[in-house]
This record gives sequence, structure tokens and C-alpha cells, in this order.
Amino acid sequence: MFWMKKNTSGCHKALPDHIGIIMDGNGRWAKKRGLPRSAGHKAGAINFRKIAKYCSKIGIKYLTVYAFSTENWNRPEEEINYLMRLFEQYLKEALSDFEEENIKVLFLGDKMAFSANLQKLIDEVEKSSQKNTGMVLNIAMNYGGRQEVTEAVKKIAVELENKKIKIENINEKLVSEHLYTAGQPDPDLIIRPSGELRLSNFLLWQSAYSELIFFNLLWPDFSEKDLDRAIDEYASRNRRFGGI
Ligand code: IPE
Ligand code: IPE
Ligand code: MG
Repeated sequence: MFWMKKNTSGCHKALPDHIGIIMDGNGRWAKKRGLPRSAGHKAGAINFRKIAKYCSKIGIKYLTVYAFSTENWNRPEEEINYLMRLFEQYLKEALSDFEEENIKVLFLGDKMAFSANLQKLIDEVEKSSQKNTGMVLNIAMNYGGRQEVTEAVKKIAVELENKKIKIENINEKLVSEHLYTAGQPDPDLIIRPSGELRLSNFLLWQSAYSELIFFNLLWPDFSEKDLDRAIDEYASRNRRFGGI
């Protein structure tokens, strides 16, 4: 595979185990075409399906996609309503994809803010794909890195109060185990299309040593080739983790 690259010890550098994608630029994609923003979101959802399948096919173990942030509630009601309808429709359609591809789906974020119907669908998808042994697909919806860490702090405080743990037990591993991504490796690579150069509250704790790759193109235009390019660039990076 072209992205396999020999490192100095002669071993092959592996693919990233975990890729995060900030699926940004749907609105601008639509605007460029004189279409309503909703058309961009629709095109973005179609592209998500394509890229998720591709990641599974090439052997990515974990894929985390950012679909809706805790700050996206600041958008006009009409856009939020459209996005919620799109999530419902998408989840119904994608159930068969997940089965076919043996993908295990998890949702990262606070589900309580969604409609009863959407919450039910989320539970169904998580339950029905739980036994799947292929790629883990994390869908970050009503997700915020700060909110995630705050929730972890609360859970740890309750355990402390109930004397399940002692202060000495609080360490980085324990914090990680209280995040939505508990038990998963941190993302090796985070990709953001759209031209924005920021994380926008995505995986704040987990991204401490992620390699960041930004693309100057909009999410609905992000192709399998672009993903290959990102993986290639990732393989050329020297990850030091503070060492030399
Ligand atoms: C990302 O695209 C989708 C969501 C945040 C839900 P945007 O809607 O942010 O698109 P731009 O950034 O306005 O182009
Ligand atoms: C980040 O994109 C969130 C998602 C892609 C779901 P935004 O469009 O919300 O981010 P900002 O506002 O440009 O930082
Ligand atoms: Mg945006």
C-alpha cells in the first residue's frame, strides 16, 4: 500500500489506527452553487457515508466524525430542524450499511437534547451494531470537548463522594476512562476540510498528540483520494510525543 513507509528501524509505519474528521464546509459548498445551506448538509451526509465505508475498507480501526457540536445550537432554528431530520433519515438508511460493513457505531455527546424519536434511533443503531467486530465509528453529535471533560469531572466527583475511589486514584488514565471514548485509542490523525484552522471543541483531551491535517476544500468535495493523501502525509510526520 502506498502509504506504508519504511521508518529508520526498517519496520513499516502502520496506518493511523484512529482518524478524526471535522466535517466542515457544507454551508459554503451550497452557497457556491446558489443552493440553500440544507443542500450542503445533504451532500455532506452522502459524503460521510462514502468516506466511512472507505475507511472501513482500507482497515482503519476507529473513525470519529464530528457531525454536530454543542455550539451548533446557536444556528437558526430552521437549519437545526433540517439537520435533526437529516440525522433521523440518515440513521434509518445507514443501518444496513453498518451491518454490511460490520461497523460498530457509538454516539459521542449528550443524547438527551434530541427528540425522543432520534434518541430511540440512536439506541437502536448502537444496540444492533454492538456485536460488530469491524471498524468502530464514533458519531459526535451534540458533542463538545469541554462538555465531555466537564461530565467526566462530575462522574469522578460522584465516585469520590460514594467512596468508590480515593483522590490518589485520580490520574490521566482515570479521566480518559470517563470520557465518551473510554477504552479507545486517541486519534492519531485529525482532518479538517473547509479551510478553517481550528478544532472547534473537537476531542480536546484526546487530541493532545494528534497529527492535524487541514484541507482547503469543502467537506462535500472531500474524496477518497484526499483521504489517501492525508494518510500519506501522516506517514511522513515524525511523532515525538515529547521525546527526541
Ligand atoms: C458543517 O458544515 C456541518 C455542521 C456544522 C453541522 P457547516 O454548516 O459548518 O458549513 P460552513 O462552515 O458554514 O460552510
Ligand atoms: C465544527 O464546525 C462542527 C462540525 C463540523 C460539526 P463549525 O462550522 O461549527 O465550526 P466553527 O464555528 O467554524 O468553528
Ligand atoms: Mg462550519
